[in-house]
Amino acid sequence: MDFIDLKTQYRKLKPSVDARMHAVLDHGQYILGPEVTELEQRLAARTGAKHCITCASGTDALLMAMMALGIGPGDEVITAPFTFFATGEMIALLGAHPVFVDIEPDTYNIDATQIEAAITPRTRAIMPVSLYGQCADMDAIQAMADRHGIPVIEDAAQSFGALYKGRASCNLSTIGCTSFFPSKPLGCYGDGGACFTNDDQIARVLLELRNHGQDRRYHHIRLGLNGRMDTLQAAVLLAKLEVFDTELVARSEAATRYAALLRDVVPTPQVKDDRTCVWAQYTIEVEDRDAVQQAMAEQGIPTAVHYPVPLHLQPVFASMHLPEGSFPVSERAGKRVLSLPMHPYLTPPAMQSVASAVKAALAQPAAR
Ligand SMILES: Cc1ncc(COP(=O)(O)O)c(C=O)c1O
Repeated sequence: MDFIDLKTQYRKLKPSVDARMHAVLDHGQYILGPEVTELEQRLAARTGAKHCITCASGTDALLMAMMALGIGPGDEVITAPFTFFATGEMIALLGAHPVFVDIEPDTYNIDATQIEAAITPRTRAIMPVSLYGQCADMDAIQAMADRHGIPVIEDAAQSFGALYKGRASCNLSTIGCTSFFPSKPLGCYGDGGACFTNDDQIARVLLELRNHGQDRRYHHIRLGLNGRMDTLQAAVLLAKLEVFDTELVARSEAATRYAALLRDVVPTPQVKDDRTCVWAQYTIEVEDRDAVQQAMAEQGIPTAVHYPVPLHLQPVFASMHLPEGSFPVSERAGKRVLSLPMHPYLTPPAMQSVASAVKAALAQPAAR
């Protein structure tokens, strides 16, 4: 069994993926070719955002978003410690300080009620993460940010396609950043990402940033990076976009089935009434996680941990002097979370096997 089955997906989409990729091979515009523009138009239309600027990865999307807002040394950016490393990494890479706020125990997203206490005169952005495919409480965060005149950057790396109060993730804040890493709900065949905004000025700066700060060829008005998405990756995404909504339904059905199989045994994921989840991960909590993971591996069931060590406990952030106990909800989650195989092509028998393996693993004395 695969944790994420990209091979079955490719077999189903082969004619359209191959046709799209061959079109690129035929026209040969590998850098910023027509597929990139077409994809940006499609993604903007889908989210309702005025601008979509694709880029080379979700990490670059976060970096470019903060660069576009002028975030740099000495600035503070509020985010959650329970996330993939890139969220805090890009803040620190710019010389800014990540200021961590703990998460809600049920959604694993930043606890909006604790953000205001973390705002200081140096706060330059709030960066909620829409973890596992469900948005944080973006209206509450935006209202608070507006009161303080601070922009919001949604780290929507895991939530492209999700809805919050009927509005699309990636278009809920000043800038939304997503990732098209292969295992994401909408993934390409390599690295890819995108920024979304309704602000014309920010969009212009993002376009310049992703291409070495050029406003025209060989005329560099700012420092930027090579943050361009490859045309071939845009072609893959255009093909996958055709079936994305069908796949989201399949993911949702899989999540419902998992919940029915497992909710009496372990805490299963909770989705708030005013949101949808795209199930980038299906993550349960177990007491002795490492023993459960080991037992499941022995039964041939792959699992993953997203994420074992919260950012404030990462060695590189030791100088922040935030010891164990600083963010108890994140730390508890880091010890307990376990992600199960999740993708649109999971069959009911496969899910039954996963659930049986969870139950068998929990029955082992070591896992209690
Ligand atoms: C929450 C979060 N932020 C940022 C990233 C970085 O995205 P990428 O791997 O495309 O650089 C990821 C991807 O793994 C992520 O899950």
